Amino acid sequence: VNPALADLNGLFAGRLLVDEADKAPFLVDWLKLKGDAIAVAMPETTEGVAAILRWAARTGTAIAPQGGNTGLAGGSVPQLARPTVLLSLKRLNRIRSVDAVNSTLVAEAGCLLADVQAAAAEAARLFPLSLAAEGSCTIGGNLACNAGGTAVLRYGTARELCLGLEVVTADGEIWNGLNALRKNNTGYSLRDLFIGSEGTLGVITAAVLKLFPKPRARATAMVGLDRVEQAALLLAALQSRSGGAITTFELMSARALALVLAHLRQTQSPVESACRWYLLIEVSDQQGEDAAAATLEEGLAAALESGQIKDAVIASSLSQAASFWRLRESMNEAQAATGKVVKHDVSLPISALDPFIAGVDAALSAQFPDARTIIYGHLGDGNLHLSALPPERDPHRLQPRDGALINRIVHDLVHEYGGAISAEHGIGTLRRDELPRYKSEIELKLMRRIKTALDPDWTLNPGVLLAPPDWPTDRSF
Ligand code: FAD
Ligand code: MLT
Ligand code: ZN
Repeated sequence: VNPALADLNGLFAGRLLVDEADKAPFLVDWLKLKGDAIAVAMPETTEGVAAILRWAARTGTAIAPQGGNTGLAGGSVPQLARPTVLLSLKRLNRIRSVDAVNSTLVAEAGCLLADVQAAAAEAARLFPLSLAAEGSCTIGGNLACNAGGTAVLRYGTARELCLGLEVVTADGEIWNGLNALRKNNTGYSLRDLFIGSEGTLGVITAAVLKLFPKPRARATAMVGLDRVEQAALLLAALQSRSGGAITTFELMSARALALVLAHLRQTQSPVESACRWYLLIEVSDQQGEDAAAATLEEGLAAALESGQIKDAVIASSLSQAASFWRLRESMNEAQAATGKVVKHDVSLPISALDPFIAGVDAALSAQFPDARTIIYGHLGDGNLHLSALPPERDPHRLQPRDGALINRIVHDLVHEYGGAISAEHGIGTLRRDELPRYKSEIELKLMRRIKTALDPDWTLNPGVLLAPPDWPTDRSF
């Protein structure tokens, strides 16, 4: 046992795991990336988190915060060059209060996203953040990554759903910024600095979250069409028709849909016509079921008539709607089952999606003729997930150096079209070394100044998002 750990055990209420078998589940992530930690600490209170951070500052130990460990950027398991304690927030998981009149809720960082949604529903409100990992990711992790998901078009990202934060700083002080104000112009927005900082500036321990009226009705459709450009025009038309009531506008390439259908052992696609692209569209409405369905029916009928889309199916029951959603939500696991996948999470202006896709398709198929590329994502947010799957008969064919080249091709083109190399998953460790290629020097310099102002000893997640100044080339310890 590491000698520095000897006095940690008594410093906080909660658990300290030091046995390899106990630590193991925390040390491998969703992408099968492995990490290491001298211990896993699971405090139950904010004071416990603060005590651990004071101990870390005293002993020079690095701290890696972790929520549900569903992150897709290699930031949730420690890959650090220093002895590290993994700080799991999972036991800090109470809903502290719900204020239905102010339409806010205070949740601790370790609350599962699904539990936050349920607490809002109990108060007849909606907490709209929604993603396929909602049964296992935590609200602290969502805020640390500024997660997006499938309702951003209507309600915004995690950042836009958060009014206040409680944060433990790198030296173990507690900042209580849990105000429930929709307007607050009293200086720098510290809240916004911590949101999206991927655990590198402070540990989020609780948050004030915005709630919304529950929609009275939803209508869900799947649509087939041949050009992404037409999809972008359809989105604009449906938004005008519905007064901005489109909640979800998700894209899947034909190959992405085929992959997920095969994975779920479904022989039939919900859309009969063979098309190059498919959309999952949802409208949610306060006017009632008929109004939501009418918006979608009329909008899609007009698009069919003008030839903008080839085919459309509107769900006639909740279970049919759920079956459409299942296709979209199983996309991640369907890819994981194919072997080593090179994934991307890029954002572009919606008007640039069509030429970007044409360019990236041509460049990738020239370089990797037998790799299979699938594209899916949140078209309404200009956010594409592009994954290169290994050749069908040879799941180990794509090597790490291929991954680097694929990233270079995709990200250079994203940059050319004015996009970002991460839209919602974050930089983590996977995209860290690419960041300097796409961010200006001044932006990187300001980010480093913020990091060193808030965490001068690089205690928090060193090597996530930014490499510390003394980052070794041999990263094992
Ligand atoms: P973790 O994975 O534990 O951590 C992620 C990062 O946040 C790490 O850098 C960690 O150090 C830091 N962190 C965690 N908790 C804290 C804290 N309390 N304080 C400070 N730092 C902290 N993302 C989307 O945006 N949209 C999607 O649609 C989406 N779908 C997904 C579907 C699947 C099947 C999976 C596996 C992932 C998906 N994701 C999606 C990725 C997404 O980032 C995570 O699901 C989620 O936001 C991470 O939460 P978590 O609690 O698991 O965080
Ligand atoms: C999604 O949109 O499904 C998620 O962001 C996860 C993924 O990229 O696979
Ligand atoms: Zn996504």
